[in-house]
Amino acid sequence: MWVLISAIFLAVFTASFSSAEWTAGEKVVNYPASVPVKRNSFIIEFHDHIDAHSNGLKVRSMPDIAVDHHYNGLFKGMAVTAGNSVKVSDLAGIDGVRKVYPNRIHKLNTRASKRNITSTYLHQKTGLAKIVKELGLDGKGVKIGIVDSGVDYEHPDLGGCWKTKGCPWQYGEDFIGDKYDLANGSTVVSPNSTPMDCDGHGTHVSGILAATGAQVQGVSPGATYGMYRVLSCTDSSGETATEDAIIIKGMEAAYRDGHDIVSMSIGGGGWAEDPTSVVASKMVANGVIVVAAAGNYGNDGLFTAQSPSIGNGVISVGSVDNWNYTGTPLIVHTNTGLHTIRKAEATTQAGMFIFKKPVSIAAPRDITGNINCCSPIEMDLKGKLALIPRGNCTFSEKAIAAQNAGAAGVILYNEKAGIRTPLIERRVSIPVTMINVKDGELIAMAISAGPVTAMASGEEYKTFDNPNGGKMSDFSSYGPTPELGLVPLLSAPGGDIWSTYPRKKGSYLSLSGTSMSTPYVAGAVALIKQARPELSVDQIRALLVTSSSSITDSKTGMQTNPYRSGAGLVNIYNAVQSRFHIDRPILSINDTKREGVYGVISNGADAKSAFRTLTISNMDTQKGMRIALEHLPAAAITMYNPNHTLSNAVYNQLALPTWPKGREKVPANTIPQGSCSSNCHPYIAPGESAVMKIRIDRPVGLKESERWFYGGFLSFKAEWDDEGTQSTFTVPYAGYNGDLNKINALSHKSEGLPALVYENGKPIDVPSLFKVNSRNAAFVAYKLDTPSRVVSISLVDLEGKRVGYLPGGYYTNSIRTLPSVRGFFMAAVNGSVYPSADASELANVPAGNYSIHLAVLRLLGNLERESDYDIWDSDMFTIE
Ligand SMILES: *[C@@H]1O[C@H](CO)[C@@H](O)[C@H](O)[C@H]1NC(C)=O
Ligand SMILES: *[C@@H]1O[C@H](CO)[C@@H](O)[C@H](O)[C@H]1NC(C)=O
Ligand SMILES: *[C@@H]1O[C@H](CO)[C@@H](O)[C@H](O)[C@H]1NC(C)=O
Ligand SMILES: *[C@@H]1O[C@H](CO)[C@@H](O)[C@H](O)[C@H]1NC(C)=O
Ligand SMILES: *[C@@H]1O[C@H](CO)[C@@H](O)[C@H](O)[C@H]1NC(C)=O
Ligand SMILES: *[C@@H]1O[C@H](CO)[C@@H](O)[C@H](O)[C@H]1NC(C)=O
Ligand SMILES: *[C@@H]1O[C@H](CO)[C@@H](O)[C@H](O)[C@H]1NC(C)=O
Ligand SMILES: *[C@@H]1O[C@H](CO)[C@@H](O)[C@H](O)[C@H]1NC(C)=O
Repeated sequence: MWVLISAIFLAVFTASFSSAEWTAGEKVVNYPASVPVKRNSFIIEFHDHIDAHSNGLKVRSMPDIAVDHHYNGLFKGMAVTAGNSVKVSDLAGIDGVRKVYPNRIHKLNTRASKRNITSTYLHQKTGLAKIVKELGLDGKGVKIGIVDSGVDYEHPDLGGCWKTKGCPWQYGEDFIGDKYDLANGSTVVSPNSTPMDCDGHGTHVSGILAATGAQVQGVSPGATYGMYRVLSCTDSSGETATEDAIIIKGMEAAYRDGHDIVSMSIGGGGWAEDPTSVVASKMVANGVIVVAAAGNYGNDGLFTAQSPSIGNGVISVGSVDNWNYTGTPLIVHTNTGLHTIRKAEATTQAGMFIFKKPVSIAAPRDITGNINCCSPIEMDLKGKLALIPRGNCTFSEKAIAAQNAGAAGVILYNEKAGIRTPLIERRVSIPVTMINVKDGELIAMAISAGPVTAMASGEEYKTFDNPNGGKMSDFSSYGPTPELGLVPLLSAPGGDIWSTYPRKKGSYLSLSGTSMSTPYVAGAVALIKQARPELSVDQIRALLVTSSSSITDSKTGMQTNPYRSGAGLVNIYNAVQSRFHIDRPILSINDTKREGVYGVISNGADAKSAFRTLTISNMDTQKGMRIALEHLPAAAITMYNPNHTLSNAVYNQLALPTWPKGREKVPANTIPQGSCSSNCHPYIAPGESAVMKIRIDRPVGLKESERWFYGGFLSFKAEWDDEGTQSTFTVPYAGYNGDLNKINALSHKSEGLPALVYENGKPIDVPSLFKVNSRNAAFVAYKLDTPSRVVSISLVDLEGKRVGYLPGGYYTNSIRTLPSVRGFFMAAVNGSVYPSADASELANVPAGNYSIHLAVLRLLGNLERESDYDIWDSDMFTIE
């Protein structure tokens, strides 16, 4: 029976995917059911050549339509609330409409921690301290628009003024107000007269750019600012939210006010087709420098960079950790004395890890005799702190074992250098903290020698060196884009950044995120613009990239892969002083199947080499320069196991697997090569250019089945006449070692998905006995290991004919599943379907037996080629 259905179905499937159907769906954008959208709210985009005003009248004249926003700047269109009687296809059918997007809701994702970091050491590492000292740059004369949650402009470090003469804040507006509160379902937009911040995020971002004070020194405090408030207050569930329609409003206003730079510490989605990316790219095309956060999903692995940072020409920014870390320490008393130990705070039901009086520490073993405590603990831990190393099971499982044995708290220690905030489930009701391996072993040793106690007042602060200082922050999102574009472009300090905060919330705070590294780079651009106002958007982008320093990967000793760090750590001093320009500062190499189109190989064989022509210009008008090329390979990375399941690193929030695995020597051909094939050592006269031919050889000893993303840096050594010193300029490149289209989009079978499940996610054991009716829906649960351009989930009848798409069952430009957010996507099977892909009319299907057909387009796949889809067909079930 089953075989028969799928055989018939296959034939029908091919025939039913006429291109007309896809086109209908393309105009109306859909999002998966798991993406929150505002009910009945749509963003309508007009074609560029359309008169937005008269087209707007057509929309307005439709019955049951309320216009929420007009966009008549860069982005032509409007945001509307449509009554239930309005069909999306009617909106899409209006002449001149290019696309109709549902209005997505976005939540902020930053990590707050109450730490004090007053050290300005980071400004030395980014070249800021030096450029300020030598040239006194502060961004004067440059205009920067910030799209964020507003600013506490009355903060003394931020000017203490609003739009008065001499005030840094000369522009800005509130587009959302304080009442937008997803926790209680209120999406009420009621802007205030000024963009006063009540959340805090925007005030923190503003301080990184603009603060002048004893505690916080902004990068470009002399610039003129605009704040476009598009995020509301922190709501009762601790979240801060907004929607695409409002973000676009803020971006448009920033553009209208004529800013040189727009800084956006905000994101969502993962395709250049996302509306915020579309608007950001238009701004760039019109001469504005847009700097945007790569995203905070690095723990989920590759393909996690977000819109608008992946828009064309947008400067996408990753994060490195600060070199210093300040926090409340753990004070441990052993037989050798007092030790002040750095700890990371976990948030549990019990709150912070605070013990105002000394508590004794025990190092328990579980019933199997293991110190990892992954099995129950028999020892009585009543009133004690349990010291447990990392490994073998989750942090929460260890904490529960200790909790069940009566422990008052848990001190976890890492098995490797470094320290992280452990993720703890809600069932843990005792405080948990984490310390590093050195400190953990010290305490364990001391316990074997005699009694040990610890206390943590939660009040005194101490600054520590951060061993991960200058390395990529674990949360920083990875590239590439779904089209294999190289993002992020570069990185800046974003982990543990001390900056201004609303006065009502304590005035200062440390936050971590690419939200923090983004304004750092926007400020850097302001200094470059101030020093060199004649430079174009492209020239500034190129300067930022080529003057960055690639980051050494501590595990392999090679460079960090460009899909992780971009060009590396920003260097403002080098960027401002640079006399070097290169026309292609960043090289996105295609996969080995498609690269041949550009290179010499095209006879179906894989491309072993990619060729690029680079034009190098000497911007010094007095002195000639001599160029030599060196190559710095980066560690290759993957997020897959050789059997094509996702690596454990993705689930356990560890660094992705690399090649080489450690510091061992590996065969030379497993490391990519970058070399020059003609005019390799040019002398470039003052103001002149030279063309160099570059050849990138992909690694040949690495198996395609292991799915490696490789990369490296072309390091140009330039020596100007009579100077005797060399300057180094970096061009990152990266590519995929194989055919990207072969990577499975649907998760590996062994994960048990896709599956028909109950609402709680539990699998339906015997679907043929399952009956969908008004009380009982089934769900299709599925997991995407890559982004996908088209996902369709159809209900199919016994003849194998598609009856329609499930609600939320047809959408384009999907992100991949992020395990840290939710393990899988779900779509409901409840008897209603959309007969056509534009999702305009829901119809109830007749009672009968059906199955589900799920089709997901793999990366770089062709919409109309059936073999480019990953396909799953369910067992049959009954709809009553
Ligand atoms: C941070 O430092 C300031 C003074 O430098 C101090 O007043 C404050 O209590 C410290 N802690 C926090 C959390 O702000
Ligand atoms: C929801 O939150 C908003 C903003 O905080 C508040 O104005 C409104 O009264 C709340 N509504 C309910 C029903 O709690
Ligand atoms: C900050 O870190 C740097 C580099 O590790 C170190 O030299 C410096 O002493 C630290 N600053 C403080 C205040 O601890
Ligand atoms: C715990 O993990 C280590 C490696 O990390 C392994 O050698 C050991 O066998 C594991 N123990 C158990 C009980 O699983
Ligand atoms: C790779 O090739 C595909 C197909 O031609 C194209 O869509 C994609 O944009 C290319 N990516 C890069 C980084 O060149
Ligand atoms: C795939 O490989 C990983 C890592 O080696 C392993 O843990 C997993 O069990 C394997 N899965 C299958 C289905 O073989
Ligand atoms: C099925 O779910 C959709 C989307 O939530 C809803 O609009 C529709 O009314 C439901 N149909 C039935 C028969 O419950
Ligand atoms: C639907 O499937 C059920 C269970 O397999 C079967 O009893 C029933 O006859 C089928 N109905 C139709 C219309 O095929």
